[in-house]
Amino acid sequence: MTGGSHNVRAATAETIAEAAARLAAGELVAFPTETVYGLGADATNDLAVAAVFKAKQRPRFNPLIVHVVDFKAAERIAKFDAKAEAVAAWHWPGPLTLVLPRRADAGLSYLVSAGLNTVAVRVPSHAIAQALLAKCGRPVAAPSANPSGRVSPTTAAHVADTLGTAAAMILDGGPCPVGVESTVLDLTGPKPVLLRPGGLAVESLERRIGPIAPAGGGDRPRAPGMLARHYAPAVPVRPNAFAVHPGEALLGFGPEAVNATLNLSPRGDLQEAAANLFAMLRQLDRPEAYTAIAVMPIPCAGLGRAINDRLRRAAAPRPPAGEGTGDVWDAERGPAAPCVLPGTGDRDDG
Ligand code: TXA
Ligand code: MG
Repeated sequence: MTGGSHNVRAATAETIAEAAARLAAGELVAFPTETVYGLGADATNDLAVAAVFKAKQRPRFNPLIVHVVDFKAAERIAKFDAKAEAVAAWHWPGPLTLVLPRRADAGLSYLVSAGLNTVAVRVPSHAIAQALLAKCGRPVAAPSANPSGRVSPTTAAHVADTLGTAAAMILDGGPCPVGVESTVLDLTGPKPVLLRPGGLAVESLERRIGPIAPAGGGDRPRAPGMLARHYAPAVPVRPNAFAVHPGEALLGFGPEAVNATLNLSPRGDLQEAAANLFAMLRQLDRPEAYTAIAVMPIPCAGLGRAINDRLRRAAAPRPPAGEGTGDVWDAERGPAAPCVLPGTGDRDDG
């Protein structure tokens, strides 16, 4: 099953230096972050950024996150007001992406922002991501290293399985500790807006900066990529399942899930569940064995919000034949959420 695994390399000082050189030469490199593996490209190089969209078959209207080594480097591409600076000081490096006004002299490829005058910036905490960003000395655009619409990778083998040789090199740093993508917070308007629940609990942010508005509400423009269906295995996903039907796999949560096929966290820990989510969805994605993946209810707080958000998108109906792969599937036609997530928008996370 592992296509293109010859380009998987254990992360060492030498392979990180080689990866940095490849990025600078315009090649694509997949690398681990604390959230998920990213498919990296030099964010200042139009051709390299275009290659990322192509490799993922990602719609061009859906902008990419730009990764930088520290706050100083972030300040060179985005404008920080006092609130943005404070949020960055509290939560960077870490699983938080800030959408900010883009600096006119940022030097970034315009493709990165999909034509918007904003930019999504993140300082990852993962030691290998940090070493790579320091070594290559330039901003790195990196969406999750999976084909658009599919489950994000949390190991190097996941990347090799689905993207094959699209990346010149896949730096192997073991499993990602957080396991779900970064929280995306838009600070470009008068009020902070949550564009995507993720690895940093919204509650932690709200304790610092007060209430955070849900995306898509009020008079704010809709976010660029809005997909109801995403993070989707081939086998249908049935969240909030209280009973398992014949033929289904049961993805459990907590100590009472004794008959589960796999258990996200036998001790009922949401961080452990987030770290296991994507790998277990992949393990159960066996159409020859299961009719569906039933998932037990997951509490909707802390990292549980990100988990429920991903499950809801994985469960959304496939677009009717003739409407493509689902990349422009309208969020409004998706199913009702398995739990109500205040502060959650509907968007594409490519
Ligand atoms: O954890 C993560 O964030 C991972 C790792 C690799 O860092 N990256 C990731 O990237 O999940 P991606 O491309 O799969 O998700 C990026 C999200 C999308 O929802 C995109 O629409 C949004 O960020 N985004 C990027 N730039 C934006 C902008 N200027 N305005 C609004 N949303 C933006
Ligand atoms: Mg993604």
